[in-house]
Amino acid sequence: MFFWGTATAAYQIEGATAEDGRGPSVWDTFVREPGRVKDGHTGDVACDHYHRWREDVALMAGLGVNAYRFSIAWPRVLPQGAGEVNERGLDFYDRLVDALLEAGISPVPTLFHWDLPQALEERGGWLNRDVAALFADYAATVAARLADRVPMWITLNEPFVHMAYGYAMGLHAPGRLLLTGALPAAHHQLLAHGLAAGALRAAGAGQVALTNNCTPVWPASQDEADLRAADAYDILHNRLFNDPVLLGRYPDLSAYVPEPDFVRDGDLETIAAPLDALGVNYYNPTRIAAPADGGVLPFEDAGITGHPTTAFGWPVVPDGLRELLTALRARYGAALPPILITENGCSQEDVPAPDGTVEDEARVAFLDGHLAAMRRAMAEGVDVRGYFVWSLLDNFEWAEGYHQRFGLVHVDFATQRRTPKRSYHWYKAFLAGRNTGRNTGQNTDT
Ligand code: FCB
Repeated sequence: MFFWGTATAAYQIEGATAEDGRGPSVWDTFVREPGRVKDGHTGDVACDHYHRWREDVALMAGLGVNAYRFSIAWPRVLPQGAGEVNERGLDFYDRLVDALLEAGISPVPTLFHWDLPQALEERGGWLNRDVAALFADYAATVAARLADRVPMWITLNEPFVHMAYGYAMGLHAPGRLLLTGALPAAHHQLLAHGLAAGALRAAGAGQVALTNNCTPVWPASQDEADLRAADAYDILHNRLFNDPVLLGRYPDLSAYVPEPDFVRDGDLETIAAPLDALGVNYYNPTRIAAPADGGVLPFEDAGITGHPTTAFGWPVVPDGLRELLTALRARYGAALPPILITENGCSQEDVPAPDGTVEDEARVAFLDGHLAAMRRAMAEGVDVRGYFVWSLLDNFEWAEGYHQRFGLVHVDFATQRRTPKRSYHWYKAFLAGRNTGRNTGQNTDT
């Protein structure tokens, strides 16, 4: 079955951060530090999905998706990150999974979407190698409850972004500014992925995937220096996270670290455990130039002009998705498992009209263009097995707070009123025109 879905993440939609025994996460701490998040917004309430999940499942059923990618909050299941299990946290996801299945929607949970239990941050967070093994314990705990009903598991969401924003640049929780000192956080996340994949399979899980954020890297010019910088960026953003998983080795990291002494014997075998799918999140290409003199990093973001942009300022380049997918296939060949596009979407300043409708035509064009690009990649031989729109709902967009709206459904955060936008109706019509296999389990068209 081709997964046609929408995606969300726990901290961005659930709210209820202190309810039913949930422990604090690094994001609960981070949002309280002055200046970290625009306008001091927090995920305390977010979309109140923890209480309104039935309504949200009904919205998805109305949309006609056959899959839903959500994330499970580690601190709901293990408030201290390890040790005592909070059954009420598991109960929430148990009920959600049942409701999805009843609606003909396959649950595709991600086990870590950046909300590390604060208790583990106090032990060093992802800089501490032990956290990898604790993640596998957590994965086993969740699988013991849900594996009988979950067809596809995703271990981690975007370890690159978590490392870069959370540990290198201090823009996301836990707010560390370590620059290249953040690299151990990449390795320990990858190790966590490998250990969790094993734990999930041992617990009888179906398919297992990892979601990486990938970007086509465009050199700013054909000058030797720009080409070298683009290659260095490609290594950091893409290959650091794909090579070990798919090839069992790291790319040349010498531009960043003289000796990756955090890698121990056997780690790469663990990390390279076979995958059933690679999750790919695509938003835009990145144009890279050589750094100005004295730059700490071996590259500089040169920016992309000449394309429309989203409210975030991200360039809209639909064919970048085809370029990315075909490049992955060219690079990894037979080592590339089937691909799931686990996130794709755009932010816009969506304002409801007086009659209550939200006419987000640019989002419709964005999705239409990217779906066409995905089909072109498939026609060129890339094995894509799913597409998830980011996001079902407008939600808490990390350091941007509620300022960036990505939803197919508009959320009025003062009243929690949900209003399907034009793009929701468009995606619904798109799905209605295909055999999505919903409720039937049959093969589907793309
Ligand atoms: C991705 C994240 C997701 C969301 C989108 C816009 O990097 O995985 O949570 O914030 O960007």
